Amino acid sequence: MRYLTIALAKGRLARKTMEMLESLGITCEEMKDKDTRKLIFTNEELKLKFFLSKAGDVPTYVEYGVADIGVVGKDTILEENRNILEVLDLNMGKCRMCVCGPSSAEELLKHHEYIRVASKYPNIAKNYFYNKKHQTVEIIKLNGSVELAPIVGLSEVIVDIVETGSTLRENGLDVLEEIVPLSARMVVNPVSMKMENERIMKLINDLKGVIKGN
Ligand code: PRP
Repeated sequence: MRYLTIALAKGRLARKTMEMLESLGITCEEMKDKDTRKLIFTNEELKLKFFLSKAGDVPTYVEYGVADIGVVGKDTILEENRNILEVLDLNMGKCRMCVCGPSSAEELLKHHEYIRVASKYPNIAKNYFYNKKHQTVEIIKLNGSVELAPIVGLSEVIVDIVETGSTLRENGLDVLEEIVPLSARMVVNPVSMKMENERIMKLINDLKGVIKGN
């Protein structure tokens, strides 16, 4: 039996995924060590390997087939637009992709003004404004703390993830439009899905049994 390789987004999502897998008897003790800097972990018994990568790179590892399976947020899947199969909603890490800004920007959106949109997700922002709203805008790519942009005058609005809404509230911004609901998803390489169908389908079906809210 060959190894089945699973790419996980480093951090909270990887920890939560491992908790879910553990309830199915799929464990990886080594990964629980908080001080470890290792990036690859193996479960010899089950012939499983785990990668820890940056969230944005999970779809890349899966598309190229070096990982058979990945677990990553829908935001990353939409932004990266890779040739991968999205097979399961894990119903965790739930949040929303939204257009946010000061309430004064509401009019600019309504009248389809040529505005500046700052985002860590330029592809999602572009797709939403150009293809869905048919509004021509300038997209400005940022790498984080995006809420800063409308406050300091870099942009009129932002496209960003809203979870609890506290970052917006504490910075005097509002949700102006909702783009799409988000959560963690399991993705699979299309060739692996064919070659390792039985093992992958078993994992999907077992996970369905332990997904919260199902
Ligand atoms: C994310 C997101 C928002 C915030 C939303 O940022 O980009 O800033 O969380 O969460 P809330 O609605 O619960 O306040 P993250 O913490 O990942 O950091 P970043 O801004 O540097 O990307």
